[in-house]
Amino acid sequence: MLSEKIQRALNDQLNAEFYSWYLYLAMAAYFDHLNFNGFAKWMKIQAQEEMSHAMKIYDYLNVVNAKVTLNNIGSAAKDWVSPLEVFQNVYDHEVEVTNSINKLVDLAISEKDHATNNFLIWFVNEQVEEIAIADQILGRLKFIGESHNGLFFLDHELGKRA
Ligand SMILES: [Fe+2]
Ligand SMILES: [Fe+2]
Repeated sequence: MLSEKIQRALNDQLNAEFYSWYLYLAMAAYFDHLNFNGFAKWMKIQAQEEMSHAMKIYDYLNVVNAKVTLNNIGSAAKDWVSPLEVFQNVYDHEVEVTNSINKLVDLAISEKDHATNNFLIWFVNEQVEEIAIADQILGRLKFIGESHNGLFFLDHELGKRA
């Protein structure tokens, strides 16, 4: 049985994962509108991953017989001005998510909830990957700068994501 605190915090994280899904979908729409179809494809896959993170928490809450609460996701609409700004946003967002996962782990430890702590390890590792990838693409975009050729090439590269 989960404590009230853990249950609330997991539901908040569930909501945050759905927000991540919505944010990346909004970014996909931004890229699709510009006909950067490779960037858009990458973002759609990223969005799907966030949905799967949300569902992992959903499933865990059900397995431990806790209540799933689906709150308002909130708008993810933003006016990005460049691919660089989008990926800066991705990086910053993933840092925020990492912080909230870490807080959740701290809470599980302080509540002596070993099962939830163990469940969260997957998310801790996933965030290391997410930050590394966001940092890599952000670095490439900084290197590319104003080069149209560079952007065209990166769009093609990111479109290979399966
Ligand atoms: Fe996530
Ligand atoms: Fe993420």
